[in-house]
Amino acid sequence: MSDRCTVVILPGDGIGPEVTAEAVAVLALLSDRFGLDLVFDEQRFGGAAIDGDGEPLPPATLAACRAADAILLGAVGGPEWDGAKERPEQGLLKLRTELGLFANLRPARIIPGLEIFSPLRPEIATGADVLVVRELTGGIYFGEKTLGDDAASDLCSYSRAEVERIAHVAFRAAQKRRGKLTSVDKANVLATSKLWRRTVEDVARGYPDVALDHLYVDAAAMALVTHPTRFDVILTENMFGDILSDEMSVIAGSIGLMASASTGSGGPALFEPIHGSAPDIAGRDIANPAGTMASAALLLDHLGHGAAATLLDRAIEAALVEGCRTGDLGGTTGCAAFGARVCAIIDEQISATYRREKVQISA
Ligand code: NAD
Ligand code: IPM
Ligand code: MN
Repeated sequence: MSDRCTVVILPGDGIGPEVTAEAVAVLALLSDRFGLDLVFDEQRFGGAAIDGDGEPLPPATLAACRAADAILLGAVGGPEWDGAKERPEQGLLKLRTELGLFANLRPARIIPGLEIFSPLRPEIATGADVLVVRELTGGIYFGEKTLGDDAASDLCSYSRAEVERIAHVAFRAAQKRRGKLTSVDKANVLATSKLWRRTVEDVARGYPDVALDHLYVDAAAMALVTHPTRFDVILTENMFGDILSDEMSVIAGSIGLMASASTGSGGPALFEPIHGSAPDIAGRDIANPAGTMASAALLLDHLGHGAAATLLDRAIEAALVEGCRTGDLGGTTGCAAFGARVCAIIDEQISATYRREKVQISA
């Protein structure tokens, strides 16, 4: 048994509520089977909160997030709020800064046996296993902005301290993986990238066991799809990380498979798929919930429930391998049916383990 953990659920907009429902269902199942004592607290966020409360991140939602052990988010945004004074996406950016979530980890790999999902040729894609470490609370997203009729500007700035703390996250991640770190910048043009590169070089001196190299972002965009296996951990700034991680989703085959974890200085962490609210497919039970369910696995691992997290990851992979696939992967399985199959596989696995243990005890 473990202590009670509160997980705030932010379904958001578009396909957000559909994919989140499947992740919550599997978390509830695992909580029951493993005695994890997870409790869920659903809150309004994004466009849904603009409609209900007049702002995308209402004070009650932020307060609940601050008090939570972890947060699971679907997605926000949609054309209905394009003209809003404050867009749903602003709520997400505010939530990340308010909680100090400066480190966004986005893993992508080819699941063995599922090379067929990738549009890349098997000899290029096989074995690809990349972790993007994206700086999440600085850079051009958060600099001063001006918007006039004839001119506009977005300031991109980074401090040495901001680069150092995200670099440490990336180096430590590389130590636990294959010991290789590629820092991606545009140091041939941008001042922020020059500081980025210098700072990463300095931090690297504390990690002699990690092999560091640097790529310009344009070359990195190419190498990700021509030589994805050359990468282990990619460290990059906010906007480059946003763009490269969507590109990286083609390695695995669909953005609907991609999970992420956002952490910071020790408060509640946030888990969300990397995709958006997909208004083009919302409300039709055809979205792929795998990325949100895999984000729930990252959440479980973060809360110290590694065995439940591994079981969930394996069940998602097993469902995909047996042919249970949503439309983005060329299948016909619905969003809810995919979630239900993952739950059924988990229970099959648990009862198989139980039977094995019983045989061992009676033998
Ligand atoms: P998107 O990720 O929502 O969709 C891009 C494409 O991928 C679409 O064709 C969509 O159908 C498909 N797709 C995405 N997720 C899928 C899934 N789970 N299963 C199957 N197919 C999936 O990106 P977009 O269209 O550029 O943005 C739509 C809205 O979402 C915008 O308002 C954008 O700002 C917002 N957005 C939010 C987040 C977030 O909440 N974290 C992330 C990205 C975009
Ligand atoms: C993401 C999204 C967000 C981002 C948007 C919706 C603000 O694209 O989480 O990848 O750019 O960070
Ligand atoms: Mn994005």
